[in-house]
Amino acid sequence: MARLLPSMLSVVLSIGWAAAVPTSRSPNAGTFTIDTTRNPNYAPNGPREYARALAKWQIEIPETLAKFGVNRHSGDVAATPFADDREYLSTVGIGTPPQNITVDLDTGSSDFWVYSSETAQTDLGNRVRWEPAKSSTAEKIPNSTWWIQYGDSSYAYGNVWRDTVTIADISVPGAVVESAMDVSFQLSTDEDLCGIFGLAIGLNSRVIPSQPTVINSMKPLLDAQVFTSDLKWHAEGTYSFGGIDSSQFTGDIRYVPLHENAKYWEINVTGVHIGDASVWYLFNWSSIVDTGTSLLLMDDDVVKAYYNAAPAAYYKAKYDAWVYPCDTVLPDLELGFSHDNTVKIPGRYINYTALEGTVCMGGLQSNIDQGFSVLGDIFLKAVFAVFDYDGRRVGFANKVLN
Ligand SMILES: *[C@@H]1O[C@H](CO)[C@@H](O)[C@H](O)[C@H]1NC(C)=O
Ligand SMILES: *[C@@H]1O[C@H](CO)[C@@H](O)[C@H](O)[C@H]1NC(C)=O
Ligand SMILES: *[C@@H]1O[C@H](CO)[C@@H](O)[C@H](O)[C@H]1NC(C)=O
Ligand SMILES: *[C@@H]1O[C@H](CO)[C@@H](O)[C@H](O)[C@H]1NC(C)=O
Ligand SMILES: *[C@@H]1O[C@H](CO)[C@@H](O)[C@H](O)[C@H]1NC(C)=O
Repeated sequence: MARLLPSMLSVVLSIGWAAAVPTSRSPNAGTFTIDTTRNPNYAPNGPREYARALAKWQIEIPETLAKFGVNRHSGDVAATPFADDREYLSTVGIGTPPQNITVDLDTGSSDFWVYSSETAQTDLGNRVRWEPAKSSTAEKIPNSTWWIQYGDSSYAYGNVWRDTVTIADISVPGAVVESAMDVSFQLSTDEDLCGIFGLAIGLNSRVIPSQPTVINSMKPLLDAQVFTSDLKWHAEGTYSFGGIDSSQFTGDIRYVPLHENAKYWEINVTGVHIGDASVWYLFNWSSIVDTGTSLLLMDDDVVKAYYNAAPAAYYKAKYDAWVYPCDTVLPDLELGFSHDNTVKIPGRYINYTALEGTVCMGGLQSNIDQGFSVLGDIFLKAVFAVFDYDGRRVGFANKVLN
């Protein structure tokens, strides 16, 4: 539960940033980058994103919200012509010669699965699919399957292959590719997404019998076993593999150790500061850094405290979500990882999408008291993040925000 404590942390902070661990690598050596575009065609649907985020993390979805997850056409008819930061898509090549497939790089899962020539036509829509028959290096793994089931009964399953996978100019021979045979409605509504590229640190994929994850196959080929994300608010961002590009951030990288034996990029958030309040809320919350979730999910107490600082905001039962008139100026939100490691998310980054008319929905929503936070793209846009496999840690650095 939230405890309101005197502003000890802000006193410490006012002394200034203490340099944490310095960048250990020379910039750009062996660093491969991949652009991540915002999906330009997708009309975002805030409630559906929220339902998806809860489903992904196996959190029970409130009944009213649940219906936004399953309506096949709800995303396409949303009255929101502008493109918000619903997801960030990157291109990977599969096969020889490489077939370019648009995927979501997802630190919150471990499977690399794609739509393919094996996928049922009704699920495919107009997607570009991977065609193993057109790859000279594709090889089916006999008697092997994969199956994903989320909390909202959405699912995907299929066959398992090996092929050369090219990401950010790095070729990974014999990488395991999960080919979808069937994908449920909830997952197939987004036609620009042709696959998921899982980057979790210690989680097995859902391949049975077990096979190496794509990141485990890729790691030995990297100069340094790290990748970084520089997602941007309403703009194209970058993922880099194998090194840290110092042109993407300012100051020092401040590292936070992962939980022991963590399967996900799981760290503790230790404090929250809202707007220009004179106090920090101090906690110890387990939090998962997840590029594959659009929203920021936190403890109900924090979410309430945050929207209380924006007096026009209110909880709308119809959507099971916090909303406000679109002209509301939301306060900034700072997350603390230690006394000298805080990240400030500008209020405008938290303004997620218009819902109906002039009502907007926030990108910070409740985790329904599940005991852990999900630090999704709303958070990641505000920071340069380092995912360090060897060091088992996540690093944050400031960057110039747009
Ligand atoms: C695939 O993407 C790469 C990198 O963006 C590009 O150089 C190449 O031309 C693309 N190939 C095809 C067949 O579109
Ligand atoms: C695959 O499974 C079938 C049926 O269980 C079995 O006959 C066959 O030997 C298996 N193939 C391999 C390569 O394991
Ligand atoms: C969080 O837990 C760590 C380890 O038990 C402890 O050292 C730290 O003081 C705790 N922080 C807060 C704010 O409770
Ligand atoms: C994280 O927080 C939990 C309490 O929620 C605490 O038990 C644990 O020691 C903390 N871990 C670290 C690495 O601070
Ligand atoms: C919040 O976002 C909506 C949708 O992008 C936009 O129309 C609105 O102007 C934004 N509000 C503010 C205060 O910037």
